[in-house]
Amino acid sequence: MSLARDVAGIRFSNPILLAAGTAGYGREVAGVIALRRLGGLVTKAVSLERRVGNRAPRVAEFHGGMLNAVGLANPGVAHVRAHDLPWLRTAEPALPVLVNVVGFTTAEYAEVITQLDDREGHAGYELNLSCPNTNAGGVEFGADAATVTDVVARCRRATRRPLFAKLSPALPVIAVIARAARDAGADGITLVNTMPGLAYHGSQTRLGNGFGGVSGPALLPVGLLAVSRTAEALPDVPIIGTGGVSTAEHARDYFRAGATLVAIGTAALADPRLPERIITALERTDG
Ligand SMILES: Cc1cc2nc3c(=O)[nH]c(=O)nc-3n(C[C@H](O)[C@H](O)[C@H](O)COP(=O)(O)O)c2cc1C
Repeated sequence: MSLARDVAGIRFSNPILLAAGTAGYGREVAGVIALRRLGGLVTKAVSLERRVGNRAPRVAEFHGGMLNAVGLANPGVAHVRAHDLPWLRTAEPALPVLVNVVGFTTAEYAEVITQLDDREGHAGYELNLSCPNTNAGGVEFGADAATVTDVVARCRRATRRPLFAKLSPALPVIAVIARAARDAGADGITLVNTMPGLAYHGSQTRLGNGFGGVSGPALLPVGLLAVSRTAEALPDVPIIGTGGVSTAEHARDYFRAGATLVAIGTAALADPRLPERIITALERTDG
């Protein structure tokens, strides 16, 4: 049986994607991952201006996974438009690509989309709503339903391509925020982003930024619950399940919880061939 699925008008040849920020814009991993085997790729964050990101070290492993504080380092929308997306389109014309978009004001998200939307080569957008809102004292956009409505509605007006709203697991009632995103025009929801965390080495914090985001195995049960709760509340909304997937059975767990697609991040950083093996395992068992 084919693993292909149509989600929000996009044809995915299988349900396994690479998660945002862990595969660059494709070119960075093309030498070690057979991109055309994937169901799709979510790019690294794209902001209006170039961002150099946080002080090193930016990643630290711990027993249950990894902490990162990359600080949304990226070359900025003009560069991504001129170089990164054209590369992907030429190298992998059939690969569905979601561009991960960040902003520091509600207007910035839509501005990034406006600057990319006349280009070919990407299927849709994923809005990283875990970003701090500078007009709200740094509280993340996704923490407030009215703000989510504002961001998503602005982005909806900026494009006809599918929009996925990506949320943090550290929200009191994720399904309420997911509903606000859907009602404002999101076609799907991505769950979850990393979870805030802190690690020490002696008296020093292990990340240059101090705190960071937890990803990897520790995030699996957290992500499954977020997906399950949201799928119960919004059964018709496609969900990209993300967090802690390192086996085909973990991907199946996300499907059981209600996800339609699964994105792999940390596990693929450590083992770039892993997503391919998971796809092969799912093909052998018909999902
Ligand atoms: C190094 C690193 C960079 C990331 N960058 C982004 C990003 O730019 N935008 C985003 O929405 N999520 C980003 N994430 C979060 C991942 O896309 C994913 O939601 C999270 O890591 C959970 O999946 P995992 O446990 O499979 O890694 C990043 C994660 C890591 C580890």
